[in-house]
Parts: sequence; structure tokens; C-alpha cells
Amino acid sequence: MSNQAEVWLLDDDNSILDALAQGLMLEGWQCRTFNQPVVLLRELTENFAGVILTDLNMPEMDGLSVLKAVQQRDADLPVVLLTGYGDISIAVNAMQLGAYSFIEKPVNHTELHKTLQQALEKRQLCLQNRRLSAQLRESRRGRVQLIGDSPAINQMRNLLDLVLDTPADVLIEGETGSGKEMVARYLHDNSARSDQHFVAINCGAIPEQLIESELFGSEAGAFTGADKKRIGKFEFANGGTLFLDEIESTPLSVQIRLLRVLEERKVTPLGSNQSINLNIRVVAATKTNLEQLSQQGDFRLDLYYRLNLLQVAIPPLRQRRQDIPLLFKHFAMLAAARYHKPVLPLNQLQLDSLLSHSWPGNVRELRNLAERYVLLGPEAAFMQQGLALPDTIGSAMGLSERVAFFEQMLIEEALNATKGSIKETMQALNLPRKTLYDKMRKYGLIRSQFKDDDTSELLE
Ligand SMILES: Nc1ncnc2c1ncn2[C@@H]1O[C@H](COP(=O)(O)OP(=O)(O)OP(=O)(O)O)[C@@H](O)[C@H]1O
Ligand SMILES: [Mg+2]
Repeated sequence: MSNQAEVWLLDDDNSILDALAQGLMLEGWQCRTFNQPVVLLRELTENFAGVILTDLNMPEMDGLSVLKAVQQRDADLPVVLLTGYGDISIAVNAMQLGAYSFIEKPVNHTELHKTLQQALEKRQLCLQNRRLSAQLRESRRGRVQLIGDSPAINQMRNLLDLVLDTPADVLIEGETGSGKEMVARYLHDNSARSDQHFVAINCGAIPEQLIESELFGSEAGAFTGADKKRIGKFEFANGGTLFLDEIESTPLSVQIRLLRVLEERKVTPLGSNQSINLNIRVVAATKTNLEQLSQQGDFRLDLYYRLNLLQVAIPPLRQRRQDIPLLFKHFAMLAAARYHKPVLPLNQLQLDSLLSHSWPGNVRELRNLAERYVLLGPEAAFMQQGLALPDTIGSAMGLSERVAFFEQMLIEEALNATKGSIKETMQALNLPRKTLYDKMRKYGLIRSQFKDDDTSELLE
């Protein structure tokens, strides 16, 4: 039993107190004894991490009044009552008032120990839930947390911190669900702009004929149907951050105006002849390779260059597998707090399954799994998400497969962190060139996949 198992005993009869305490201490309980209710109540604090065992019949204040007073302090604190022969109806009444249970005298120690232990478990779950709810509130109130400790994420976080308060616009590239909006919010929340608006626009979701008035604003009567003045998103975001999501879907006709606004830092609402000066940071996000798109003529090259001043590439989850357990735990704890459920730890099979999945939906897919895990339990969650969960140890990954798996993961991460530099990867992993090449061939890793135009030196 954990050494935090604490029980407070209350009885006006010192000999009974001593006998109870001795018996319980032998079972591993930490006991504090009280022969006066007022003293116990004075010492008791909210979030007390133990259980209270009190006699029902006491001269100063009976057990029911103690129960009520305890509940006023903390309504979820388990109170177990000791009842004498003939007290059954009072005991039932006490249960209705919210007592955890009652034990009849003479006390059967096994039964007492068992009841107290169940009460303690209930108490610990309740306190765990309170802590998680507090964390949840904290994370809602506080800034965005970018979870992850892989070299790739640490490198990205360093880059973001470096550019937080520069006026440079940022282009975020990442697969679906990889955290593009989250990164944009991180930039906003941690910058000096955080007390102004963060305005998100999905460039692919606004009808083409409305996109201009949506972005730049319009005067009443500027076009058919414009019956009142409309504040554009650029103006609304003034002083803060404008997030242009799915920038690749911006109609070509709007791209040219967008470019002009980004260059001039001024916006003129449709139908107006007065321009508004802008002090905004623009963060654009794309799922596709914008450079390729512009070379094909599907995106304006000049706009691409304008947006691309600072590029943040979020690596897909499968290229930073070491973040998977961390992220899973983070989302499971948030879900547990939200739904008032406990978090069961992952077993090795489940962990292997998470680590070997390819995560096409990236972090969002992992978050969904963690939520289902908390709500529905491991089996149903893994099944619904189409994740293999071997049901016998024999079919799980063996040692050599697991070693190979981690080896591949580490090489992938090093290549990713060094943007495909063989020399730096050799150094980071302390591997001779030939061994590195052999292993890359074995795992089908191709150097060019990790290459990337590094824009971070533009800042220096
Ligand atoms: N590093 C991270 N730490 C914590 N949560 C994260 C992280 N990355 C992503 N998330 C969470 O994963 C979910 C998906 O992230 P987000 O919406 O930012 O992705 P996205 O790239 O914008 O997706 P889409 O391409 O579908 O628009 C969100 O709930 C986000 O909070
Ligand atoms: Mg998004």
C-alpha cells in the first residue's frame, strides 16, 4: 500500500482509538487520532488526501454532525462511520447524507481495511480529477502549449521564439493535422501582439466574390448587395495577427491584391478612397508545396516569395515518433479532465502500436485516439481508429524488431534535424559513413526527402 494512505480517526473513547490505530498501522496506514471533533475539523483542509473514520455516538458532536461539517469543507471527502448495535437506521440516514460507508462494532479489521482502501481510492481519483481540471482550466486560460521534445520540434520552437516579435510574415508548411494553426497561435500568444486580435481566415472557404470584401472591407453600396459598411479582416486584425489558412486555395485574382497589401501594409476597403495603415503580422499556412505550385503557375510566384520570407516546416508525426507518447499523454490527461475519467497507463503492446502507426492524420489523429482511449477504453479506441493491437505477446514486436524500429526512428530524426546532412547525421549518431549508408538503405531512407531550404539564417 502506498505510504500516502492516510486515515484520521475520531472517537471520544481513547482505548478504541488506540486499538483501531494499531490495527490500521499494521496494515500500512498512517493514522492520526482525535478525541474531539472540533480539533479534527480545525485541522482539516480542502484537498485532504485521506479518509475519515468517525464514531457515530459522541457526547460533544455526533457523527452525523461531523459528517455535515466535513462535507461543508469538502463535499467529496469520504467519511466512514463506526456504528454500534441498533444504529442501523441512523447509518442508513448517514449514507443518504453522503457518508461513504459504515462499519459496525465490534470492528472486523479485514472489512475495515477493505472499506477504507476503497474510500481512499475514490478520494485519490477525485483529487486526480481536480488536478487535471485545474490543468485544463490553466491551459485554456494560458498560452498555447507546443508539446514535443524531438530534435525537430525543439528546433522549430527555437526558430519560433527567435522570430516572435519580428515584424516578418511567416509561412507554415505542414500536412493535415500537423499543427499549423497551433503554431500560428503560438506565435501570436507569445508575442507582444497577444492582447490584440488573432484573426483566422480559411482562404479556400470564402466564396470568391466575397473574398475581397471579407479581407479588405467594403463601404455601403460598394457592390450589389453591400447594404452596409463592412470591416475587413485585415482591419480587424490590426495590431494583431492575421492567419491565412489554406493560402494555396486563394483565387489567382485575389492573390495580386493580397500581394499589394502585404507589400504596402495598407488596405483600401472596396468603394472607399481612404486607405488604412496596417500593423499586422501575417501568418500563412499551406498543406502543399507552394513553391512547386507556383512553378506550375497555379500560385503567383511573387506572392510565394513575399510569403516565404520565413518558412516554418512542421514535420509529420511519423518523422518525430519520439513525441508520440508525450502527445498521447497530454491529450489523454486533457480528455480525462474534461470527461471526469481516470487515465489508464498504456501497456507495451499499445505503445508499440502507437509508435509503429504511420499517422496520416498526424497530431489530430493522435488526439482523437487519446480521447477515445479515455472515453471508450483501449480496445474499442484502437479498433475504431484502425490501429493494430496484437492480442498476444507472441505477435507483438520482438526485441530485434523493436531495436530496428527505434534505430530507424533515431536515424530519421537525425536526418530530419540536420535537413539531410550526412556529415552531421554521422556526427550526431556517432556512426561511420558506410554504416549510416547501409542502414539508410535498409530502412529505405532517402536523403533528399529530408532536404529543405533553410531560411533561418535570413534572421541573423
Ligand atoms: N505540438 C503540439 N502540441 C500540442 N497539441 C498539438 C500539437 N500539434 C498539434 N496539436 C493539436 O492537434 C490538433 C490539430 O492541430 P491544428 O489544427 O493546428 O493542425 P493543422 O495543421 O492546422 O490541421 P489542418 O491541416 O487540418 O488545418 C489541434 O487540436 C492542436 O491543438
Ligand atoms: Mg488548420
